[in-house]
This record gives sequence, structure tokens and C-alpha cells, in this order.
Amino acid sequence: MDLTPPPTLAELVSPPAGSAMRRRDFIFGAGTSSYQIEGAARADSRLESIWDRFCATPGKVLRGETGAVACDHYHRWREDLDILARLGVDAYRFSIAWPRVMDEAGRPNHRGIDFYKRLLGGLAERGIRAFVTLYHWDLPQHLQDRDGWLNRGTAWRFADYADLMSRALAGHGDVAAWTTHNEPWCSAYLGYGDGHHAPGLKSPRWAAQAMHHLLLGHGLALPALRANAPRAQHGIVANVAPGYADSDTAADRDAAHLFETFQNRWVLDPLLKGEYPADLWRYWKGCEPAMQPGDMDIIQRPIDYLGLNFYSRALLRSAGPDTMAWVRRPDVERTTMDWEVYPQGMQDLLEALDREYVRLPPLYITENGMSSHDAISRGEVDDVQRQAYIKRHFAACSRAMENGVDVRGYFIWSLLDNFEWAFGYERRFGLVHVDFDTQKRTLKRSALAYADFLRERAAG
Ligand code: NOJ
Repeated sequence: MDLTPPPTLAELVSPPAGSAMRRRDFIFGAGTSSYQIEGAARADSRLESIWDRFCATPGKVLRGETGAVACDHYHRWREDLDILARLGVDAYRFSIAWPRVMDEAGRPNHRGIDFYKRLLGGLAERGIRAFVTLYHWDLPQHLQDRDGWLNRGTAWRFADYADLMSRALAGHGDVAAWTTHNEPWCSAYLGYGDGHHAPGLKSPRWAAQAMHHLLLGHGLALPALRANAPRAQHGIVANVAPGYADSDTAADRDAAHLFETFQNRWVLDPLLKGEYPADLWRYWKGCEPAMQPGDMDIIQRPIDYLGLNFYSRALLRSAGPDTMAWVRRPDVERTTMDWEVYPQGMQDLLEALDREYVRLPPLYITENGMSSHDAISRGEVDDVQRQAYIKRHFAACSRAMENGVDVRGYFIWSLLDNFEWAFGYERRFGLVHVDFDTQKRTLKRSALAYADFLRERAAG
């Protein structure tokens, strides 16, 4: 007879006993982004964004879905903040929709800005700190009409926007952290390199140029953010993944190295070393961006933290000199994004970054989570795979921390099922299930377990 007691709800997701993640000052949260949840695409004179335009272009998004309504969070934010309070999170990570808060001439749109003031006020009332992202991919379309991030001037427009918002929100709520960009790799590569994201352009040369201007915009924004929000931390969020060689040959090991250069160093080297990784131009010959003297000094301005979004790993083999090919193993656990579940990769990567970057600032896991086919049955959603995913990644993060990596917080992606970009609404990442016909929210079992763990931790 098995006499082991069944796991408590909290144990379904909680970090191991004794983990530094259980300390009260470690920040736990959940995240969202504006275009993925807000909807209300025309409300209060919001301008068109590149994602509105992209979604309206046939063939770009699965089943032609759009973010026009999404989770209708613009109107249902109170209910969503109540859910955050019920979870007991320390912080909420969300983004501001640039096209909501500034008109074409760069003047403030006060009605749009007021929405974020109400949101911050609502968070403060519930004792939840805010991690505010300025750019989670919804560029105003009028800037794209002038070449978007290929135009050097966009970096300055971004700095103006950062100045406006950090000034406007000063004194409203508790903004613990400002983030300039979420995943510039996706903005640059998926947006300008392979065309899977808005604005849908396709050239490695453009990707490299867009990245340079995104990073320049980041650096240009920092002084205003620091001046307007002196008590907040200021940083940027990168999507990172470890690359593993499919075999131990020198050629495959080089392919894995090249992958990490493309995926991680392309963003992190300029920020933390003040230069692009030379290897990148082995992979993309002749694609070096146009730069001006002094750009790298702006880009490598000190940041207070680095946010890392971690989901999976990549397995690589060589496909000839300076060329890599992704290897797909058939026998491994995957999510409905077709991403391999590989928690050990989080520990390996955190420790590798810690070794590689002398100037690595404190880290946050700003996104981690998974998509699955979550259906409601008798009023409940038992997302078993997500519970295990969270628990195993918490454990991996704990091990890295034990080995000296300075991680300060962890945000589950996402609070709500939402608009998963080119995949529309089919890929459900939420802790909370959303019925997109009725807008009914249902906490999945992973959410209930997370809440239970956070309650236990708070009780000491
Ligand atoms: C990264 C992005 O920041 C977020 O918008 C997206 O939904 C998740 N990863 C999952 O793909």
C-alpha cells in the first residue's frame, strides 16, 4: 500500500524546499502585453499599430484572427486585477500600447494615458508592484510608414515616448521596474528578417539594421527614465535559448555556438560588451548595420537588471561552413507551440550567461510558461503539463541560484490566454483560461496551485 500523502495544491508547482526562490524578497508575478490582451483597438482615439495592419493582411495570422477584441482587458481590467490579487503575486508585468498614448505629432493622448494611470492605481490598491514595458511590438503604423525601425529617427521617437510615459505615470502606483524593449530579437528578426511578425519584411540586412535602431532607442530612453522614475529599476528584456550540438563533432559544436550568437549574443553583446559579436557576420555575411560614432556608448549604458524570457532549447547540427540546421528529435516532450520542454536548459543557460558576461546585472525571468490544449471540464481546467512545466523550471532556476546566479524574480507567461501573435487564439499560455466568445475567465489548476504556493510562502 502506498502511504505517501497526495501532493498539496501548492506542491504541484512550488520550488524545492530550501530554495532561495522561497525567500520573501524574491518577486513572483505574471505577465501580459498590450496588443495581446487589451482589444479596444479604436477606443479613445488609439492609432493604428503595425499589428493591426499585419492582422488585416490576408495570410499573416492563423484563421485571420486579430487583436481587435482579444481579452477585452481595456474594459475588464478591474476583474483581471482582482485575479492577480487572488493569485497573490508580488508584481504584474504589462506593456503600454504606444499608439494609445501619443498622437502622430508626438503629443500626449490623455484618454489613453488615463487607462494606464487607472491600471497603476488599481495595482497599488491591491498591493501589487508594476513592471512596465514600453515596447512589446505594437509600433504606431505612421512610424512604419516612414520605415519603422529601419529609420534611425524612430530611436529618437521611442526616447520621446519613454520620456512622456515615465513623466505622465510618475506618482501613479508603484512602478518597480521600467523595461524599454521586450525581445528586440523578435522585433528585429521576426519583423524584418523572416517576416513572420509585423511589419512582415524579409531580409537579414534589414533585421540587423532594425536591431541596431531598437538598441539605440533603448539606450537613448534610459536617461529620461532615470530622471523621471529615479526609484525604479531600468532595463531590457531578451528572449534567450541555449543551443546544444546534436553530436560532439567540431562542426556541430560550431553550429550550436553560431545559434547562440544569433539568438543571444546579437542582443546581449552590444548591451553588455559594447560590440556586436563578430561571429554574427560569418552567419550573415555583409549584413553589418550602418552605425554612427558613439552609438555603442549609448547602447551599452548601464542597466539595473536584465529580463530573460525562457521557453525552450535548440538542437543544432552543421549544414556546411557557417551554416546551421535545427534538429527535431521525435521522442521528446513538446508543447502545442511544438517547443521542446527542456528545463535543464534554463539552468545551463543562466550559468553560461553568468560566466560569459562580466557586466551581467541582476536577472529576472520575465517570461516562462507553455501553451497547451486547455479545455474546461465541469467548470475546471486541469492543466497537468503546465503544472509540471512550472515546477521543473522553478527547480532549474533554483539550482542556478544555488550556483551563484543572481536571479531576483520570476514571471509566469501569461496571466491570461491571449492573442499569440501569428498563431492567433489557438495557443493557450494562460494561468487563466479565457472563453473568447463570452470573455469568461476561469482559473486553471496551475493558477490555483500558484496561488496556494504564494499564500504558503507569505505565511512563512
Ligand atoms: C514571447 C513574447 O514576449 C510574448 O508576447 C509571447 O506571447 C510569448 N513569448 C510566447 O510565445
